[in-house]
Amino acid sequence: MKTSFTAMQETAMPSSHDTRTLTVDLGERSYPIHIGTSLLGKPEWLQPYLAGQQVMVVTNETVAPLYLERFKAGLPTGLDVREVVLPDGEHTKSLDSVALIWDALLAAGFNRRCTLVALGGGVVGDMAGYAAACYQRGVAFVQVPTTLLSQVDSSVGGKTGVNHPRGKNMIGAFWQPKAVLVDTDTLTSLPAREMSAGLAEVVKYGLIRDVDFLAWLESRMVDMRSLQADAMREAILRSCAIKAAVVAEDETEQGVRALLNLGHTFGHAIEAHQGYGAWLHGEAVGAGMAMAADMSERLGWLGAHEVARVERVIEAAGLPLAAPESMSASDFLTAMRLDKKNVDARIRLILLRQLGEAYIEESVPPAQLDALLRDYPRR
Ligand code: NAD
Ligand code: GLY
Repeated sequence: MKTSFTAMQETAMPSSHDTRTLTVDLGERSYPIHIGTSLLGKPEWLQPYLAGQQVMVVTNETVAPLYLERFKAGLPTGLDVREVVLPDGEHTKSLDSVALIWDALLAAGFNRRCTLVALGGGVVGDMAGYAAACYQRGVAFVQVPTTLLSQVDSSVGGKTGVNHPRGKNMIGAFWQPKAVLVDTDTLTSLPAREMSAGLAEVVKYGLIRDVDFLAWLESRMVDMRSLQADAMREAILRSCAIKAAVVAEDETEQGVRALLNLGHTFGHAIEAHQGYGAWLHGEAVGAGMAMAADMSERLGWLGAHEVARVERVIEAAGLPLAAPESMSASDFLTAMRLDKKNVDARIRLILLRQLGEAYIEESVPPAQLDALLRDYPRR
C-alpha cells in the first residue's frame, strides 16, 4: 500500500537557526514536531502549548538528574510547576505507575487546564500520555522525548498506554500531544545499546516506505552510531516525516498505520516471553524485522540477496538478528495470538513486498509460519 506524503509539511522554523519543524496534520488537533538543539532551557518552545498555569513534569530516576533542572530552568516564569519522578524501566510501564501520576495531579489540586510534560523515553511518554488522556477525561500534554526511539517514533502519533502481564501495550488510548519538542542534545548521554534500539525504528521507516532512505541509512550508519550531528538530525527528520504522514492518514490504525509495526509482532512476542526489559523494545523489533524479511522470502516476495541486505543493515545498527534460545515455536505462537493487529483468531503480519514497500498479510499460511518459527536461528 503506497500513500502520499502531502499530509506532512515542513514549515518555516519559528526562531532558532538550526531547528526544523514538521506538522502532524490532524485538522484542529494538528501539532508541531520541533527538532533542534538546545531546546531544553528555552521557554519560547514550550510556552505556546501550555493549557494554563499548572504544569506536571513526568520523568524518571535516570532522566531527572540529567535534564530535569535544565528543563525547569527554561520554563516560563509564573507557572505552578510540579514533578513526578517514576522508577526507570519497561517493567514499570504499568497502571500502578500511571496511578502515581494521577495521585500527584490530585494532590497538587491540578484542574482541567493543567499540562503534563513527558520528559524521557518511550516508557515515560506512553505513561504520561495515558495519564493525560484519562485525567479529568483528558488534559493537555507535551512530549519532550530524550531517547532516539522516542524522538523518531513513540512521541509522535498519540499512542499512549501501559503493558499488561499478558501482553505489551494492551491497555491504552489514542491521545495526541499538543507538541513534540525534540532536543537532539539529549542523545549525547544515551547508552550505545539504547541508541541501537532507536535505530531499529529508523531502519523500519526505510524498509516499509522509503528505499532511498534505506540506502541513505546504509551509507550513514557509522556516522549515526557516533552521533554525528547532521546525520542524526537528518535521520530524525526523515523518520518523523514518515511517521507524521502515516499518522495523518490513519490516526487510529484502521489501515496503513499498521505498517509501522513491521517486526513488532515477533518483537512483542520476544519482549513478553523474555520478561519486559530483558530485551529492549528496539532489539526485539530488530530481530523481528529480520524474521519478517525471512517470512517475506518464504512467501516469494523478497529474494535471498534482499533478505541479506535487511540483515546487514540491522546488524550494522548493532541489533540482534537471532531469536532467543529459550523461545520455542509454540512460545512465539502463544504470544503472537494476543497481538492487537489480529482479527478474530487470525494472525496478521506486516511483511515486505519489496524493500521500501510493506503490506499487511491477512492470511499467513500456518504451515509456513510454523516452519519459520521452528527453523529461525536462535542464540
Ligand atoms: P525507555 O523509555 O525505557 O528509555 C530507555 C532507557 O534510556 C531508560 O533507562 C531511560 O531512563 C533512559 N534514558 C532516557 N533518556 C535518556 C538520555 N537522554 N540519556 C540517558 N539515558 C536516557 O525506552 P525507549 O526505547 O525510549 O522506549 C521504549 C518504549 O516505547 C516501549 O515501552 C515501547 O512499547 C514504547 N513505544 C511506543 C510507541 C508509541 O507509538 N507510543 C512506539 C514505539 C515504542
Ligand atoms: N509505533 C507504531 C505506531 O505508532 O503506530
